[in-house]
Amino acid sequence: MQIRRGLGSPYRRWQSLRFALTRDRQALAHFLSRRLSLSRLQRLKMLRAFMHVTQHVRGYHSLAEMLVVCGAILERAGQPGLTVVECGAAKGSSTAKLSLATAQAGGRLLVFDSFKGIPDNDERHCNLDGRQVVFRKGAFTGRLKAVQRAVQAYGAPQVCTFTKGWFEDTLRDFRGPIDVVLLDVDLLSSTRTCLEALYPQLRPGGVLFTQDGHLEAIVALLSDEAFWSGMGVPRPKIEGLGQDKLLKIPGPAAASPRT
Ligand SMILES: C[S@@+](CC[C@H](N)C(=O)[O-])C[C@H]1O[C@@H](n2cnc3c(N)ncnc32)[C@H](O)[C@@H]1O
Repeated sequence: MQIRRGLGSPYRRWQSLRFALTRDRQALAHFLSRRLSLSRLQRLKMLRAFMHVTQHVRGYHSLAEMLVVCGAILERAGQPGLTVVECGAAKGSSTAKLSLATAQAGGRLLVFDSFKGIPDNDERHCNLDGRQVVFRKGAFTGRLKAVQRAVQAYGAPQVCTFTKGWFEDTLRDFRGPIDVVLLDVDLLSSTRTCLEALYPQLRPGGVLFTQDGHLEAIVALLSDEAFWSGMGVPRPKIEGLGQDKLLKIPGPAAASPRT
């Protein structure tokens, strides 16, 4: 008998539960026990909603990664003008989860993507473990309408604004202030564009996450003193740089002195 493994299948439900209880267990326990203005019941409901998204929309992140980023959003709950930016939505799985946390926190979520996948590029990448990786044109495509449908079905569409196009165009005139940013854009060129456009616009105490810390080229960019001084800011202290996939970069005002 062939087991159905597609979106919405019992197999996928079982897999997301298995990951939550094994690979992501520590992050889950931390999310449930940390200081947040959210009751235990509200957290459990949010976790259930996240797993529901995972079961129905293809995503490219772990539950643990989402809990860290959503924790940073929820920490800022009630902050006037709370603004969250996501660059790199793919099929809308991360977007739906971020939208739920942003709605709970009383903020708005601005989503940027080409909605036609990775741009044409000649970048050749190496993971920190030495494996080569190429991000092909069109990979991770999620059409705008499909992403909006996913967020409508499983997230909080009322807090979302979608901007379609290449970051080089859509972020050029973007103005903050921003509180939390999540970049998941794979390419060095895209990461550079997003950082240059968004990092200087973080509010004091703001934070930027990138999910591309497993790529050597991204580690090199983030380690480059000249890159940060080009933006007029000191190089922030980035914990886990060169080790972790998800990196948390404190905003300019909260950045530690040069190391
Ligand atoms: C790995 S996927 C995002 C995965 C998603 N965050 C998730 O966890 O399910 C990378 C996304 O970055 C987008 N992207 C990369 N470079 C871009 C650029 N220069 N302009 C617009 N979108 C870009 C792609 O369209 C793709 O949706």
